[in-house]
Amino acid sequence: MINIAVLGYGTIGTGVVEVLNTNGESIAKRAGDQINIKYVLDLREFPGDPIMEKLVHDVNIILDDPEVKIICEVMGGVEPAHTFVKAALLKGKSVITSNKELVAKHGAELLNIAKERNLNFLFEASVGGGIPIIRPLNQSLTADEIVEITGILNGTTNYILSKMSEEGIGFEAALADAQKLGYAERNPAADVEGHDACRKIAILSSLAFGMQVDYEDIYTEGITKISDIDIRYAKTLDAKIKLFATSIRENDRVYAMVAPVMIKSSHPLYSVNDVFNGIFVRGNVIGDVMFYGSGAGKLPTASAVVADIVDAAKHLGINIWTIWSSKKLELTDVNQVQHRFFIRVKGNTPQVVENVGKLFGDVEVVAAKGVAGEYAFITQSLSEQDLKEKANNLDGVLSIIRARF
Ligand code: HSE
Repeated sequence: MINIAVLGYGTIGTGVVEVLNTNGESIAKRAGDQINIKYVLDLREFPGDPIMEKLVHDVNIILDDPEVKIICEVMGGVEPAHTFVKAALLKGKSVITSNKELVAKHGAELLNIAKERNLNFLFEASVGGGIPIIRPLNQSLTADEIVEITGILNGTTNYILSKMSEEGIGFEAALADAQKLGYAERNPAADVEGHDACRKIAILSSLAFGMQVDYEDIYTEGITKISDIDIRYAKTLDAKIKLFATSIRENDRVYAMVAPVMIKSSHPLYSVNDVFNGIFVRGNVIGDVMFYGSGAGKLPTASAVVADIVDAAKHLGINIWTIWSSKKLELTDVNQVQHRFFIRVKGNTPQVVENVGKLFGDVEVVAAKGVAGEYAFITQSLSEQDLKEKANNLDGVLSIIRARF
């Protein structure tokens, strides 16, 4: 029997208990031994829940118990998670986490401690919910140099954008739905302002390039400025607006950004809707690979956590080596990155059209049914810096969205 402890009995923690109860027998076969939850740590009480028998409020009970071999941290947030996880590794316990804030900030340090002590620090559930993406990057795509990772990495914003587009419901109603379904972060700003996707692309980039990509260095823009009118224009273009988290290597330099983009139906991520996540990876040998599945929610995330528990159980005393150096990867200045841009400006007068022509040269003009009194167009490819300078000379800008076509 392998004893484990679960830190945090919230959405994911209850999911982990449920998965282990539901599939305990097959999990035991795969792990080579029975997985037993010896403790659950939470500050709260859960009257009537059988978990009460295992509930403790003091992490030291778990840390000081030599029978506990694997700790599963599903509390979220950097502290006290970092203190608990580091202490657990130093006490000789392998750690599984779904906590992207923790992994993005301290992944290199915690992997290193695990490696030095022949333990494991595994975090499949921290990116893409139930989708296997960390293990493929570490184990299946190691023959390749990764040149691009582009993902829809936040289920909540994908759900909101999908509902706004498919059902015509407003931003707030769609967000409330996502919260009810357990997709959203405790503070939904982390979802809608793009911070959650930013941490996830920082983790994937650090793994793909083997160095520390600091999430603070990643240009991040959320979806709060996307309006129903933008979505109407996208529809007339046979396009959708998606929150992309991208990391691209060009000439030995990497740039990374999180921002809403317009994509056409020919893009591989176009059909990734609702809470689903999709991750597109391009390697220099394999070419293009796609990963798709449930990106958030109790059971999909718990499934990835429990799969990591099984892996840790199979590798007690053996470190699964992951390359993620603490050396910082300096990212390319995002101002140099080139895109096409979809732009809407107030007014549809000859003067507006002339000014746009002077600033942007040839543009693709876009009309949307029922939208009047404004001028919308898509630019040629230009740098973020050029765009900023030109937009400063443009009166009445209503929206600017990057276009990936
Ligand atoms: N709030 C996150 C999302 C949860 O919506 O994707 C999964 O990390």
